[in-house]
Amino acid sequence: MAVDLRVNGEDYTLEVEGDTPLLWVLRDEVGLKGTKFGCGAGLCGACTVHLNGAPVRSCSTPVDMAAGSEVTTIEGLGQPGKLHELQQAWVDHGVPQCGYCQSGQIMSAAHLLQTNPAPTRDEIVAAMTGNICRCGTYSRIVAAVESVVG
Ligand code: FES
Repeated sequence: MAVDLRVNGEDYTLEVEGDTPLLWVLRDEVGLKGTKFGCGAGLCGACTVHLNGAPVRSCSTPVDMAAGSEVTTIEGLGQPGKLHELQQAWVDHGVPQCGYCQSGQIMSAAHLLQTNPAPTRDEIVAAMTGNICRCGTYSRIVAAVESVVG
């Protein structure tokens, strides 16, 4: 079936099955590889993208649920040629170790700051608990988010 998708401000009409996970459409059809496959079961957060501004697990979101919505991936978070302030904070704090989960971490952090521009440390920790990092970069993630909050 043809699915109309708006991703990072660009419109796509894609021939895919409606139950295809959004993650695979983004990676394989749209060609945006920043969103990662971790568990495939909605448990780890590596595949987090925004759907109309809300974080979703793209591994367990059928693409037809995203049709007509605005999808934002890590590639669309900043401005052309300019990192989002969280991406810059991630660089400045050397957050990633292997880096695999970090795009999902940043997408969750971005949603936190959109809904709560001045979170406390406890609120940051609580908001990020759904994103798992095997390398254990949690303390640097919190520090990076706090640096943006000021
Ligand atoms: Fe989607 Fe883990 S890959 S939550």
